[in-house]
Amino acid sequence: MSNSKDLILVETNPEIFIEKQIKLIKDIVNSRRVVAAVSGGVDSAVAAYLSWLSVPDNLDVIFLDTGFMRENESSEVKSLFTSMGIDIDIVNAKERFYEKTLGLSDAEKKRIAYREVFYDVLADEVRKRKATFLVQGTIAPDWIETLGGIKTQHNVLYQIGLKPEERYGYIVLEPLANLYKSQVRFLAKFLGLPEKLIKRQPFPGPGLLIRCVGVCDLEKLEVTRLVTNIVENNLRDHGFSQFFAVTLSKAEEVKGTESNHYINRIINFNNEFNGIKLFTFPEKSTGVKGDSRVYGDIYAVSHDNIDLVIENRSLLVSELMSIIPSASRLIAKISDGSSMGKYSVVIRAVITEDFMTADVPVISANELIHISEEIIKKDSRITGIYYDLTSKPPATIEYE
Ligand code: XMP
Repeated sequence: MSNSKDLILVETNPEIFIEKQIKLIKDIVNSRRVVAAVSGGVDSAVAAYLSWLSVPDNLDVIFLDTGFMRENESSEVKSLFTSMGIDIDIVNAKERFYEKTLGLSDAEKKRIAYREVFYDVLADEVRKRKATFLVQGTIAPDWIETLGGIKTQHNVLYQIGLKPEERYGYIVLEPLANLYKSQVRFLAKFLGLPEKLIKRQPFPGPGLLIRCVGVCDLEKLEVTRLVTNIVENNLRDHGFSQFFAVTLSKAEEVKGTESNHYINRIINFNNEFNGIKLFTFPEKSTGVKGDSRVYGDIYAVSHDNIDLVIENRSLLVSELMSIIPSASRLIAKISDGSSMGKYSVVIRAVITEDFMTADVPVISANELIHISEEIIKKDSRITGIYYDLTSKPPATIEYE
Protein backbone atom coordinates (compact mmCIF):
# COMPACT_ATOMS: atom_id res chain seq x y z
CA MET A 1 0.00 0.00 0.00
CA SER A 2 2.93 2.34 0.40
CA ASN A 3 6.39 2.85 -1.01
CA SER A 4 9.75 3.94 0.34
CA LYS A 5 9.02 7.62 -0.41
CA ASP A 6 6.56 7.41 2.49
CA LEU A 7 9.47 7.62 4.92
CA ILE A 8 10.34 11.14 3.79
CA LEU A 9 6.74 12.14 3.16
CA VAL A 10 5.65 11.40 6.74
CA GLU A 11 8.25 13.71 8.21
CA THR A 12 8.02 16.50 5.65
CA ASN A 13 4.32 16.46 4.75
CA PRO A 14 2.34 14.26 7.13
CA GLU A 15 -0.97 15.66 5.89
CA ILE A 16 -0.17 14.50 2.34
CA PHE A 17 0.78 11.03 3.58
CA ILE A 18 -2.50 10.87 5.51
CA GLU A 19 -4.60 12.11 2.58
CA LYS A 20 -2.89 9.60 0.29
CA GLN A 21 -3.59 6.72 2.66
CA ILE A 22 -7.20 7.77 3.19
CA LYS A 23 -7.78 7.92 -0.56
CA LEU A 24 -6.11 4.52 -1.03
CA ILE A 25 -8.19 2.90 1.71
CA LYS A 26 -11.42 4.45 0.39
CA ASP A 27 -10.67 3.36 -3.18
CA ILE A 28 -9.72 -0.18 -2.22
CA VAL A 29 -12.51 -0.75 0.30
CA ASN A 30 -15.27 0.92 -1.66
CA SER A 31 -18.51 -0.19 -0.01
CA ARG A 32 -17.17 -3.42 1.51
CA ARG A 33 -16.56 -4.01 5.23
CA VAL A 34 -13.28 -3.72 7.13
CA VAL A 35 -12.08 -5.10 10.44
CA ALA A 36 -9.19 -3.32 12.15
CA ALA A 37 -7.40 -5.33 14.82
CA VAL A 38 -5.84 -3.19 17.54
CA SER A 39 -3.44 -4.24 20.28
CA GLY A 40 -3.26 -1.06 22.33
CA GLY A 41 0.06 -0.16 20.72
CA VAL A 42 0.59 2.96 18.69
CA ASP A 43 1.10 1.15 15.33
CA SER A 44 -2.24 -0.65 15.22
CA ALA A 45 -3.97 2.42 16.70
CA VAL A 46 -2.71 4.69 13.90
CA ALA A 47 -3.64 2.08 11.26
CA ALA A 48 -7.14 1.76 12.77
CA TYR A 49 -7.50 5.54 13.07
CA LEU A 50 -6.60 6.04 9.39
CA SER A 51 -9.24 3.43 8.51
CA TRP A 52 -11.79 5.17 10.72
CA LEU A 53 -11.06 8.48 8.98
CA SER A 54 -11.47 6.72 5.62
CA VAL A 55 -14.47 4.40 6.01
CA PRO A 56 -16.04 5.01 9.46
CA ASP A 57 -19.36 3.36 8.57
CA ASN A 58 -17.80 0.21 7.12
CA LEU A 59 -15.42 -0.42 10.00
CA ASP A 60 -15.34 -2.68 13.08
CA VAL A 61 -12.41 -2.23 15.46
CA ILE A 62 -11.61 -5.28 17.56
CA PHE A 63 -9.15 -6.20 20.30
CA LEU A 64 -8.29 -9.86 20.90
CA ASP A 65 -7.89 -10.79 24.51
CA THR A 66 -5.36 -13.57 23.97
CA GLY A 67 -4.85 -14.33 27.65
CA PHE A 68 -1.28 -13.00 27.35
CA MET A 69 -2.21 -9.44 28.24
CA ARG A 70 -0.89 -7.41 31.14
CA GLU A 71 -3.04 -6.59 34.17
CA ASN A 72 -6.16 -4.56 33.20
CA GLU A 73 -4.93 -4.27 29.61
CA SER A 74 -8.27 -4.92 27.86
CA SER A 75 -10.17 -2.31 29.86
CA GLU A 76 -7.37 0.26 29.49
CA VAL A 77 -7.27 -0.19 25.72
CA LYS A 78 -11.05 0.06 25.52
CA SER A 79 -11.11 3.34 27.41
CA LEU A 80 -8.25 4.78 25.32
CA PHE A 81 -10.22 4.16 22.13
CA THR A 82 -13.42 5.45 23.68
CA SER A 83 -11.55 8.69 24.40
CA MET A 84 -10.74 8.87 20.65
CA GLY A 85 -14.42 8.43 19.80
CA ILE A 86 -13.97 4.86 18.56
CA ASP A 87 -15.92 1.95 19.98
CA ILE A 88 -14.03 -1.35 20.12
CA ASP A 89 -15.17 -4.93 20.65
CA ILE A 90 -13.13 -7.05 23.04
CA VAL A 91 -13.00 -10.63 21.75
CA ASN A 92 -12.25 -13.20 24.45
CA ALA A 93 -10.01 -15.80 22.78
CA LYS A 94 -7.98 -16.90 25.82
CA GLU A 95 -8.83 -20.59 25.73
CA ARG A 96 -8.03 -20.93 22.02
CA PHE A 97 -4.60 -19.36 22.54
CA TYR A 98 -3.80 -21.37 25.68
CA GLU A 99 -4.72 -24.63 23.99
CA LYS A 100 -2.23 -24.18 21.14
CA THR A 101 0.65 -22.39 22.84
CA LEU A 102 1.03 -23.47 26.49
CA GLY A 103 3.57 -26.24 26.97
CA LEU A 104 5.70 -25.43 23.89
CA SER A 105 9.32 -24.62 24.70
CA ASP A 106 11.01 -23.45 21.49
CA ALA A 107 10.68 -19.69 20.87
CA GLU A 108 9.95 -19.93 17.16
CA LYS A 109 7.45 -22.78 17.68
CA LYS A 110 5.67 -20.63 20.28
CA ARG A 111 5.60 -17.66 17.89
CA ILE A 112 4.37 -19.71 14.93
CA ALA A 113 1.66 -21.42 17.03
CA TYR A 114 0.61 -18.00 18.34
CA ARG A 115 0.45 -16.56 14.82
CA GLU A 116 -1.72 -19.45 13.62
CA VAL A 117 -4.29 -19.03 16.39
CA PHE A 118 -4.14 -15.26 15.98
CA TYR A 119 -5.10 -15.45 12.31
CA ASP A 120 -7.64 -18.25 12.82
CA VAL A 121 -9.44 -16.20 15.47
CA LEU A 122 -9.24 -13.08 13.31
CA ALA A 123 -10.58 -15.04 10.32
CA ASP A 124 -13.61 -16.08 12.40
CA GLU A 125 -14.18 -12.48 13.49
CA VAL A 126 -13.84 -11.15 9.95
CA ARG A 127 -16.23 -13.82 8.68
CA LYS A 128 -18.77 -13.11 11.44
CA ARG A 129 -18.71 -9.45 10.48
CA LYS A 130 -18.95 -10.21 6.74
CA ALA A 131 -15.81 -8.16 6.10
CA THR A 132 -13.43 -8.37 3.14
CA PHE A 133 -10.44 -6.55 4.66
CA LEU A 134 -8.31 -6.76 7.75
CA VAL A 135 -6.30 -3.67 8.71
CA GLN A 136 -3.17 -4.16 10.75
CA GLY A 137 -0.41 -1.94 12.03
CA THR A 138 2.57 -3.82 10.58
CA ILE A 139 5.66 -1.58 10.41
CA ALA A 140 9.01 -2.02 8.64
CA PRO A 141 11.02 -3.71 11.45
CA ASP A 142 8.29 -6.40 11.77
CA TRP A 143 8.78 -7.74 8.27
CA ILE A 144 12.49 -6.91 7.99
CA GLU A 145 13.25 -9.09 11.05
CA THR A 146 10.89 -11.85 9.95
CA LEU A 147 12.34 -11.90 6.42
CA GLY A 148 15.86 -11.83 7.84
CA GLY A 149 15.05 -14.93 9.87
CA ILE A 150 15.65 -13.07 13.14
CA LYS A 151 12.16 -13.55 14.56
CA THR A 152 8.74 -14.60 13.31
CA GLN A 153 6.68 -11.52 14.07
CA HIS A 154 3.09 -12.42 14.73
CA ASN A 155 1.66 -10.05 12.13
CA VAL A 156 3.73 -10.75 9.03
CA LEU A 157 2.08 -12.76 6.27
CA TYR A 158 2.44 -11.30 2.77
CA GLN A 159 6.10 -10.54 3.13
CA ILE A 160 6.90 -14.21 3.77
CA GLY A 161 4.75 -15.47 0.92
CA LEU A 162 1.61 -16.44 2.90
CA LYS A 163 -1.55 -15.41 1.05
CA PRO A 164 -4.19 -14.40 3.59
CA GLU A 165 -6.90 -14.23 0.88
CA GLU A 166 -6.47 -17.93 0.15
CA ARG A 167 -5.81 -19.13 3.65
CA TYR A 168 -8.05 -16.91 5.77
CA GLY A 169 -10.47 -15.35 3.31
CA TYR A 170 -9.59 -11.68 3.77
CA ILE A 171 -7.30 -9.09 2.23
CA VAL A 172 -4.77 -7.49 4.57
CA LEU A 173 -4.29 -3.72 4.47
CA GLU A 174 -1.08 -2.38 6.01
CA PRO A 175 -0.98 1.41 5.68
CA LEU A 176 2.18 1.74 7.80
CA ALA A 177 4.23 -1.14 6.39
CA ASN A 178 7.12 1.06 5.24
CA LEU A 179 7.41 3.21 8.34
CA TYR A 180 9.51 2.94 11.49
CA LYS A 181 8.26 3.44 15.03
CA SER A 182 9.44 7.06 15.31
CA GLN A 183 7.49 8.03 12.19
CA VAL A 184 4.37 6.25 13.42
CA ARG A 185 4.64 8.18 16.70
CA PHE A 186 5.09 11.39 14.71
CA LEU A 187 1.94 10.61 12.71
CA ALA A 188 0.02 9.75 15.88
CA LYS A 189 0.93 13.14 17.34
CA PHE A 190 -0.01 14.89 14.13
CA LEU A 191 -3.39 13.10 14.15
CA GLY A 192 -3.96 14.24 17.75
CA LEU A 193 -4.15 10.75 19.27
CA PRO A 194 -3.99 10.62 23.10
CA GLU A 195 -0.56 11.24 24.62
CA LYS A 196 -1.04 8.13 26.78
CA LEU A 197 -1.30 6.00 23.66
CA ILE A 198 1.67 7.62 21.92
CA LYS A 199 3.84 7.18 24.99
CA ARG A 200 2.79 3.59 25.61
CA GLN A 201 5.87 1.43 25.41
CA PRO A 202 5.75 -1.18 22.65
CA PHE A 203 4.29 -4.50 23.73
CA PRO A 204 4.92 -7.49 21.44
CA GLY A 205 1.95 -9.12 19.69
CA PRO A 206 2.42 -12.48 21.43
CA GLY A 207 2.51 -10.54 24.71
CA LEU A 208 3.43 -12.33 27.92
CA LEU A 209 3.72 -15.65 26.07
CA ILE A 210 7.23 -14.67 24.92
CA ARG A 211 8.13 -13.12 28.29
CA CYS A 212 7.21 -16.34 30.05
CA VAL A 213 10.44 -17.72 28.58
CA GLY A 214 10.63 -21.37 27.49
CA VAL A 215 7.73 -23.58 28.52
CA CYS A 216 4.85 -21.36 29.60
CA ASP A 217 2.05 -22.68 31.81
CA LEU A 218 -0.73 -20.88 33.65
CA GLU A 219 1.28 -20.54 36.87
CA LYS A 220 4.41 -19.14 35.20
CA LEU A 221 2.15 -16.83 33.19
CA GLU A 222 0.52 -15.54 36.37
CA VAL A 223 3.98 -14.86 37.89
CA THR A 224 5.06 -13.10 34.68
CA ARG A 225 1.97 -10.87 34.81
CA LEU A 226 2.52 -9.97 38.44
CA VAL A 227 6.21 -9.07 38.07
CA THR A 228 5.54 -7.19 34.82
CA ASN A 229 3.20 -4.94 36.75
CA ILE A 230 5.75 -4.29 39.51
CA VAL A 231 8.62 -3.56 37.09
CA GLU A 232 6.50 -1.29 34.86
CA ASN A 233 5.24 0.68 37.87
CA ASN A 234 8.73 1.17 39.25
CA LEU A 235 10.54 2.12 36.04
CA ARG A 236 7.82 4.23 34.40
CA ASP A 237 9.43 7.62 35.07
CA HIS A 238 12.90 6.91 33.68
CA GLY A 239 12.03 7.54 30.02
CA PHE A 240 13.40 4.16 28.87
CA SER A 241 12.18 2.98 25.46
CA GLN A 242 11.09 -0.36 26.90
CA PHE A 243 11.13 -1.84 30.41
CA PHE A 244 9.60 -5.10 31.48
CA ALA A 245 10.13 -8.41 33.26
CA VAL A 246 10.58 -11.96 32.04
CA THR A 247 10.47 -15.23 33.96
CA LEU A 248 12.94 -18.10 33.76
CA SER A 249 13.52 -21.21 35.84
CA LYS A 250 15.97 -21.44 38.72
CA ALA A 251 19.66 -20.74 37.97
CA GLU A 252 22.40 -23.35 38.26
CA GLU A 253 26.03 -22.52 38.91
CA VAL A 254 28.36 -23.30 35.99
CA LYS A 255 31.66 -24.95 36.80
CA GLY A 256 34.38 -26.22 34.47
CA THR A 257 37.04 -24.99 32.11
CA GLU A 258 35.01 -22.45 30.11
CA SER A 259 33.56 -20.90 33.23
CA ASN A 260 36.99 -20.71 34.93
CA HIS A 261 38.50 -19.19 31.82
CA TYR A 262 35.76 -16.52 31.73
CA ILE A 263 36.01 -15.71 35.42
CA ASN A 264 39.82 -15.48 35.30
CA ARG A 265 39.71 -13.16 32.28
CA ILE A 266 37.28 -10.84 34.07
CA ILE A 267 39.36 -10.78 37.24
CA ASN A 268 42.47 -10.10 35.13
CA PHE A 269 40.77 -7.02 33.70
CA ASN A 270 39.83 -5.76 37.14
CA ASN A 271 40.63 -7.57 40.36
CA GLU A 272 37.64 -5.96 42.07
CA PHE A 273 35.70 -8.73 40.28
CA ASN A 274 37.25 -11.30 42.63
CA GLY A 275 34.52 -13.67 43.84
CA ILE A 276 32.38 -13.35 40.69
CA LYS A 277 30.37 -16.50 39.87
CA LEU A 278 28.72 -17.73 36.67
CA PHE A 279 25.26 -19.33 36.43
CA THR A 280 23.02 -20.59 33.65
CA PHE A 281 19.34 -21.47 33.06
CA PRO A 282 17.45 -24.24 31.26
CA GLU A 283 15.77 -21.74 28.88
CA LYS A 284 17.31 -20.21 25.77
CA SER A 285 16.94 -16.72 24.35
CA THR A 286 17.19 -15.06 20.94
CA GLY A 287 19.94 -12.82 19.74
CA VAL A 288 21.46 -11.48 16.55
CA LYS A 289 24.95 -12.19 15.27
CA GLY A 290 25.81 -10.40 12.06
CA ASP A 291 22.61 -10.62 10.06
CA SER A 292 21.34 -13.88 11.45
CA ARG A 293 19.33 -15.07 14.38
CA VAL A 294 20.88 -17.07 17.20
CA TYR A 295 19.04 -19.00 19.84
CA GLY A 296 21.52 -19.38 22.63
CA ASP A 297 22.12 -19.90 26.30
CA ILE A 298 21.38 -17.41 29.06
CA TYR A 299 24.14 -16.80 31.62
CA ALA A 300 24.14 -14.83 34.86
CA VAL A 301 26.98 -13.31 36.85
CA SER A 302 26.75 -12.86 40.57
CA HIS A 303 28.97 -10.46 42.52
CA ASP A 304 28.55 -8.37 45.70
CA ASN A 305 29.23 -5.11 43.87
CA ILE A 306 26.19 -4.87 41.57
CA ASP A 307 27.01 -1.31 40.50
CA LEU A 308 30.47 -2.44 39.32
CA VAL A 309 28.87 -5.25 37.31
CA ILE A 310 26.37 -2.93 35.64
CA GLU A 311 29.02 -0.28 34.84
CA ASN A 312 31.12 -2.96 33.12
CA ARG A 313 28.20 -4.58 31.27
CA SER A 314 29.72 -4.27 27.75
CA LEU A 315 32.99 -5.90 28.78
CA LEU A 316 31.22 -8.69 30.68
CA VAL A 317 28.94 -9.42 27.73
CA SER A 318 31.59 -9.32 25.00
CA GLU A 319 34.00 -11.54 26.96
CA LEU A 320 31.22 -14.04 27.61
CA MET A 321 30.32 -14.19 23.91
CA SER A 322 33.93 -14.71 22.88
CA ILE A 323 34.68 -17.40 25.46
CA ILE A 324 31.30 -19.18 25.40
CA PRO A 325 30.00 -18.83 21.82
CA SER A 326 26.69 -20.56 22.63
CA ALA A 327 25.78 -17.63 24.92
CA SER A 328 23.14 -15.19 23.70
CA ARG A 329 22.57 -13.13 26.84
CA LEU A 330 24.12 -12.12 30.15
CA ILE A 331 22.16 -11.01 33.21
CA ALA A 332 23.35 -9.84 36.64
CA LYS A 333 22.08 -11.23 39.92
CA ILE A 334 20.43 -8.57 42.08
CA SER A 335 18.95 -10.55 44.99
CA ASP A 336 17.90 -13.95 46.16
CA GLY A 337 14.22 -14.64 46.63
CA SER A 338 12.77 -17.61 48.46
CA SER A 339 15.01 -20.70 48.66
CA MET A 340 11.87 -22.77 47.96
CA GLY A 341 11.00 -20.71 44.88
CA LYS A 342 11.21 -22.08 41.35
CA TYR A 343 11.20 -18.97 39.15
CA SER A 344 13.85 -16.41 38.31
CA VAL A 345 12.77 -12.94 37.26
CA VAL A 346 14.80 -10.73 34.91
CA ILE A 347 14.30 -6.98 34.74
CA ARG A 348 14.89 -5.76 31.17
CA ALA A 349 15.29 -2.08 30.22
CA VAL A 350 16.52 -0.63 26.93
CA ILE A 351 17.07 2.70 25.26
CA THR A 352 16.65 2.77 21.50
CA GLU A 353 15.70 5.03 18.61
CA ASP A 354 14.65 2.51 15.99
CA PHE A 355 14.33 -0.80 17.95
CA MET A 356 16.81 -2.38 15.49
CA THR A 357 19.66 -1.73 17.97
CA ALA A 358 19.32 -0.94 21.68
CA ASP A 359 21.48 0.00 24.69
CA VAL A 360 21.10 -1.05 28.30
CA PRO A 361 20.76 1.88 30.71
CA VAL A 362 22.50 2.04 34.08
CA ILE A 363 20.05 1.58 36.96
CA SER A 364 21.55 1.86 40.43
CA ALA A 365 21.91 -1.24 42.59
CA ASN A 366 19.83 0.52 45.25
CA GLU A 367 16.89 0.96 42.93
CA LEU A 368 17.13 -2.59 41.55
CA ILE A 369 17.29 -4.00 45.10
CA HIS A 370 14.24 -1.95 46.04
CA ILE A 371 12.27 -3.39 43.08
CA SER A 372 13.51 -6.90 43.93
CA GLU A 373 12.30 -6.56 47.52
CA GLU A 374 8.84 -5.63 46.30
CA ILE A 375 8.81 -8.66 43.99
CA ILE A 376 9.99 -11.06 46.70
CA LYS A 377 7.45 -9.72 49.18
CA LYS A 378 4.60 -10.28 46.69
CA ASP A 379 5.51 -13.80 45.55
CA SER A 380 7.34 -16.58 47.35
CA ARG A 381 7.57 -18.64 44.16
CA ILE A 382 10.46 -16.42 43.06
CA THR A 383 13.97 -17.56 43.87
CA GLY A 384 16.17 -14.90 42.25
CA ILE A 385 15.98 -11.48 40.62
CA TYR A 386 18.35 -10.32 37.84
CA TYR A 387 19.03 -7.31 35.61
CA ASP A 388 19.71 -7.89 31.89
CA LEU A 389 23.13 -6.54 30.80
CA THR A 390 22.87 -7.32 27.08
CA SER A 391 22.48 -4.68 24.37
CA LYS A 392 20.93 -5.42 20.93
CA PRO A 393 22.99 -6.81 19.27
CA PRO A 394 24.10 -9.34 20.47
CA ALA A 395 20.70 -9.97 22.19
CA THR A 396 17.29 -8.93 20.91
CA ILE A 397 15.08 -6.72 23.08
CA GLU A 398 12.63 -9.54 23.82
CA TYR A 399 13.88 -12.96 24.96
CA GLU A 400 12.04 -14.97 22.32
P1 XMP B 1 13.26 -7.53 19.30
O1 XMP B 1 12.99 -8.47 20.41
O2 XMP B 1 13.17 -8.17 17.96
O3 XMP B 1 12.13 -6.44 19.36
O4 XMP B 1 14.56 -6.79 19.46
C1 XMP B 1 12.09 -5.25 18.61
C2 XMP B 1 10.79 -4.55 18.96
O5 XMP B 1 9.70 -5.29 18.43
C3 XMP B 1 8.83 -5.71 19.50
N1 XMP B 1 8.38 -7.06 19.15
C4 XMP B 1 7.21 -7.32 18.57
N2 XMP B 1 6.18 -6.53 18.24
N3 XMP B 1 4.98 -8.41 17.46
C5 XMP B 1 5.07 -7.08 17.69
O6 XMP B 1 4.10 -6.38 17.42
C6 XMP B 1 5.97 -9.28 17.77
O7 XMP B 1 5.87 -10.47 17.54
C7 XMP B 1 7.14 -8.70 18.37
N4 XMP B 1 8.32 -9.22 18.79
C8 XMP B 1 9.07 -8.20 19.26
C9 XMP B 1 9.68 -5.66 20.75
O8 XMP B 1 8.90 -5.53 21.93
C10 XMP B 1 10.54 -4.44 20.46
O9 XMP B 1 9.84 -3.25 20.68
